[in-house]
Amino acid sequence: MSKQFDLVVIGAGPGGYVAAIRAAQLGLSVACVDAAENAKGGPAPGGTCTNVGCIPSKALLQSSEHFEQANHHFAEHGIEVKGVSLKLDKLIGRKNEVVKQNNEGILYLFKKNKVTFFHGHAAFAGQVEGGWSINVTGKTEENLVARHVIVATGSAPRELPGVPFDEKIVLSNDGALSLDAVPGKLGVIGAGVIGLEMGSVWRRLGSAVTVLEAAPEFLAAADQQVAKEALKAFTKQGLDIQVGVQISEIKPSAKKVDISYKNAAGEEQKLTVDRLIVSIGRVPFTAGLNAPAVGLTLDERGFVAVDAECRTNLPNVWAVGDVVRGPMLAHKAEEEGVAVAERIAGQHGHVNFATIPWVIYTSPEIAWVGQTEQQLKKEGRAYKAGSFPFLANGRARALGDTTGFVKVLADAKTDEVLGVHIVGPVASELIAEAVTIMEFRGAAEDIARICHAHPTLSEAMKEAALAVDKRALNF
Ligand code: FAD
Ligand code: NAI
Repeated sequence: MSKQFDLVVIGAGPGGYVAAIRAAQLGLSVACVDAAENAKGGPAPGGTCTNVGCIPSKALLQSSEHFEQANHHFAEHGIEVKGVSLKLDKLIGRKNEVVKQNNEGILYLFKKNKVTFFHGHAAFAGQVEGGWSINVTGKTEENLVARHVIVATGSAPRELPGVPFDEKIVLSNDGALSLDAVPGKLGVIGAGVIGLEMGSVWRRLGSAVTVLEAAPEFLAAADQQVAKEALKAFTKQGLDIQVGVQISEIKPSAKKVDISYKNAAGEEQKLTVDRLIVSIGRVPFTAGLNAPAVGLTLDERGFVAVDAECRTNLPNVWAVGDVVRGPMLAHKAEEEGVAVAERIAGQHGHVNFATIPWVIYTSPEIAWVGQTEQQLKKEGRAYKAGSFPFLANGRARALGDTTGFVKVLADAKTDEVLGVHIVGPVASELIAEAVTIMEFRGAAEDIARICHAHPTLSEAMKEAALAVDKRALNF
């Protein structure tokens, strides 16, 4: 007997589980199907983000930062610690516990919101009376009929051709989050978000890390002033980041990986590492959905093709998150999930792509929203820029963390904020103010006139906004 629902969501990552909850809040009968399993074979909802992405990486970044502080920075505060040592199994165990708490949290939220969860693999079986027939197989065997379907099947790490992940020597994000020993030498291919975050974790824990990046510019998507400041800080910390390289050959063996590459000057180089992280981007994941059989259109890069409102080519079939175009970010997936749930319920869901923040959780953190200075120049848009260094911020001095700055870019005529770029302490939290201002299409003067608590890092945002009008008070 089929089970009938208003909505079946395939995938319980940030896109899927949030869509399911929002739709249930709006009175729809909702099921969510997710195949992921924990170490004991039980359900592990939360997707890449919870299991092998945002959450575990931030847990390891936090633990490794504590280790770094204890080893290198406590002394600056007059705190002498002797014999600092690392229990990697405990550190990884704590990370696993954080993941487990998040998995359980989502199962609790499903119960609370009356979302029916099926642990298994979902595939389209065809169109039937009443909607779409979805087969669930694996841990649960069911047939579901759904009036609407949301595909939220996420993404998977991209492999280098001929260098498959074995998660022991050649690692994706998955293996990089669960090493059982600190590699002496760690190689990273790709100086993107994962490369920098995971490279930072293992460097802090003791690895000599070399990051090889193909693009000629470091962090090309970021504001280049921010990228320069960050590169300086990472290099000082000991990350060896080489841009403009061309990988010639990668030869993994039982205990090491031999890499041959040309550096930016075109010289042949050789590097041998104990472990290699390959973080060269991610690809949409649609395997096993039975998409071709039902005629679900994918674009030329394998993403589920959708319109601006996440409608696919099939009636009442929607797709959100990493499996569709746009940035592969958890909060973008969530926003799309909510918007689609609201559209299905007859409301007017909306996602503002212009105000999606980007954050890289290294030290210093990097965060931005809106346009970069190089984008504005390319567009020929007249703009004003105001910057404020954390060096001149009292709270940053008290923290002992004065690297970086806040930069506000505003329209030359209207003063509307066009972009905000931060490199420095807790940039991930500071960026929220900029997102709010931009969402309300506020001006630099609006930020400058808002009272910011003293002493806080957020005063650097106010000062950068004042600097747009050349009237910073503390610099
Ligand atoms: P996913 O989270 O990938 O979830 C898809 C789910 O669908 C999975 O659980 C999968 O098992 C399930 N599934 C797939 N096919 C089927 C099927 N046929 N049947 C049943 N279930 C199926 N983003 C941020 O915003 N901030 C961060 O700090 C951040 N850190 C990251 C760190 C790392 C190391 C990585 C890899 C990613 C990080 N991301 C971060 C990106 C973020 O994880 C993704 O953007 C986000 O998870 C996408 O959500 P989603 O719901 O689209 O897909
Ligand atoms: P990425 O797109 O951030 O970076 C990939 C890097 O690899 C790029 O700089 C690219 O130029 C480089 N590259 C590609 N091919 C190469 C090659 N053959 N040789 C050398 N370099 C090569 O991708 P990444 O780091 O894999 O992360 C995937 C996605 O996951 C990100 O785009 C992001 O959306 C998400 N993510 C988000 C995080 C956050 O929000 N803090 C953290 C981690 C991941």
